[in-house]
Amino acid sequence: MANGFCGIDHIGIAVRDLAAAKAAYLALGFPVSEGEGLPERGLEVVFVDTGAGRLELLAPMRPDSEISRFLAQRGEGLHHVCVRVADLDAKLAELTAHGARLIDATPRPGAHGARVAFVHPKSAAGVLLELAEQPPNGA
Ligand code: CO
Repeated sequence: MANGFCGIDHIGIAVRDLAAAKAAYLALGFPVSEGEGLPERGLEVVFVDTGAGRLELLAPMRPDSEISRFLAQRGEGLHHVCVRVADLDAKLAELTAHGARLIDATPRPGAHGARVAFVHPKSAAGVLLELAEQPPNGA
């Protein structure tokens, strides 16, 4: 652990067609999880297992989802980097105290039951940064 940070959890990749993206990674030989819907965010995701660290393929479930505008403006590709943290509430308080620009002042539900929050790219050298706290059971 480094100052409450616990390594890269996953790298998020925005895709238009989840089935096609999943098929592409399966064709490359990667294990790929079943789809998981995040209806409150308008997203459906699958995780690609790289052996250490995962790729999260994100596709919109509806035209007003949070990645629809990203796809329209920038197309498919790298969307965010997710770093695991030991204590998300403590980390958000610390970042707020340091003047970081947060998209989420309080955690929201992420995939696999994790609590997550996003840091604005303006505070992270142009990269959308997701912070994720794993649930106690490590699900
Ligand atoms: Co993510």
